[in-house]
Amino acid sequence: MEIDVFTLFPEAFTWFAAQRHVTNALAGGHSLGLVNYRDHTPLSGRQVDDTPFGGGAGMVLRVDVVEAALRARYGRDPVALAAERRVLALDPGGRLFDDALVDELAAEPAVTILSGRYEGFDERVVEHFASDRVSIGRYVLAGGELAAMVVCDAVLRKLPGSLGHAASAVEESFSAALEGGPEYPHYTRPAEWRGWAVPEVLLSGHHERIARWRLEQSRARAARSGTDFMEREHRGGNGPLA
Ligand code: ADE
Repeated sequence: MEIDVFTLFPEAFTWFAAQRHVTNALAGGHSLGLVNYRDHTPLSGRQVDDTPFGGGAGMVLRVDVVEAALRARYGRDPVALAAERRVLALDPGGRLFDDALVDELAAEPAVTILSGRYEGFDERVVEHFASDRVSIGRYVLAGGELAAMVVCDAVLRKLPGSLGHAASAVEESFSAALEGGPEYPHYTRPAEWRGWAVPEVLLSGHHERIARWRLEQSRARAARSGTDFMEREHRGGNGPLA
């Protein structure tokens, strides 16, 4: 798959792009492109943002600047682009990013991620260029870069070959194998530490008992958390924009 991130701070992705699951995905033919809005701005002084109409604090990323960057990358009107590929505008008020959305995106051939800064985007960017408005949580970050990395990380690690161990993404939190629930607890050596013993079943070598215990643990964690982990099966609400 092709992922492109539009950002004012491409250098923020240097560490992320060097992580093993990312380099594995890239070696497997996937791509992670970084586009700096500033490199394509039609304004003087590399300007990309402006004060909000109506007043208020902060700066807003300009629609003409975002359009220029998208045109430079894709060579066409970005209004047509959103019909061809998922274009995510990162926004704290958007659709909450969860495992169901990760699966949706991992199945796409191409995804574009627009990071905002300061007070975010001119609303016309989201209305006319984006297919989805996506939030990684109900809090406000100083910019979209960390949110973009969260999205890329969760999506790339789902791609075949990205994780070293093929089963790692199959039986993990929120997977169908665990009925959409959280993952069971893990233990490693030493088998006892300060009197804290590893559950005996895990040392038994009895694969069926271990699988049953793990599923029970996942269910118990789900029940304790009070979260409806099955809601992904019948989630409505703040989905993709029309
Ligand atoms: N930009 C700033 N805060 C954000 C959030 N919580 N999710 C997505 N993008 C953001």
